[in-house]
Amino acid sequence: MSFAHIGLLCSGGDSPGMNCAIRALVRTAIFNGIQVTGIKRGYAGLLRGEFQPMNLSSVGNIIQRGGTILQTSRCPEWMKKEFRAKAVDIMKHQGIEALVVIGGDGSFNGAMALWNEHQFPVIGIPGTIDNDISGTEYTIGFDTAVQTGIECVDKIRDTAHSHARTFLVEVMGRNSSAIALKVGVCTGAENILLPHEKVNHQKLNDDIHRGMARGKDSSIIIVAEGPVAGRSYEIQNILKDMFHLDAHVAILGHVQRGGSPTANDRFIASQMGNKAVQALIDEKFPTVTVVRDGKVLLAPLSECITKADYNYAEYQTLAETLSI
Ligand code: F6P
Repeated sequence: MSFAHIGLLCSGGDSPGMNCAIRALVRTAIFNGIQVTGIKRGYAGLLRGEFQPMNLSSVGNIIQRGGTILQTSRCPEWMKKEFRAKAVDIMKHQGIEALVVIGGDGSFNGAMALWNEHQFPVIGIPGTIDNDISGTEYTIGFDTAVQTGIECVDKIRDTAHSHARTFLVEVMGRNSSAIALKVGVCTGAENILLPHEKVNHQKLNDDIHRGMARGKDSSIIIVAEGPVAGRSYEIQNILKDMFHLDAHVAILGHVQRGGSPTANDRFIASQMGNKAVQALIDEKFPTVTVVRDGKVLLAPLSECITKADYNYAEYQTLAETLSI
């Protein structure tokens, strides 16, 4: 079976570098004589038939832009079987023979259901700043989000030092430790609070005072957001009530989702977009373009549909050792 026409969508939270993957996929497909239809606003747009024909120039001048030109959404209807059946009918009616989904584990679960229920050919490209998908060491956008986090914390450190203050800096990543650990190590944070660990406020206070005792003027505590953003305020209140310690809160939030992708994100996304088309030409589906041992490869989609928190124990030890 060779494909003449494929569909492409982004789903879930956007991430810097998605445009690089879109560009690489469209250009590789056209190079191989395959037509591409862009589907706007993820699975929700697919259900509404929001299609956009893609040509060489529709992906021109986007490699440096954050976000996604196709836009994205989270789609609760997709959880229901009848909507997935409707989507397959819509794609067939449009002449779309295979679907490439750029997104996270939730989006890949949605793609897996399309394959399981309808044998509709699907390929996944991992795109989320959280770097939390099983089966791949890397997801597009993580490097840029970390870089943005580092730049923000460096700025906060300047003012924290000037005023001899403690800051709780909350970073995105939901239940993943990845952004918090990497930003923490790279900014010399005094402490990193991970999403799955109960906060030991006594230890936090002791660490801050130990630092002050050896002449430190500022303390940066990186707080991983966990399931609900804003947990830093609770920590701030407890530090105040228990120890009369005034900590300032800075929540970086969606700043980390925007911005021009780093070289690393551009390069990996370009390889993944290219590889996704190759996978369809070689009839290797349902698969995901993954990074393993630093190389972009294909892995079965079934290996990439759960959450993973890579290397956190090792990086946590590193962070703790370097922040004594
Ligand atoms: O999954 C990516 C992510 O940016 C998480 O880090 C964050 O918790 C969440 O999305 C925020 O989602 P939304 O943009 O829908 O508020």
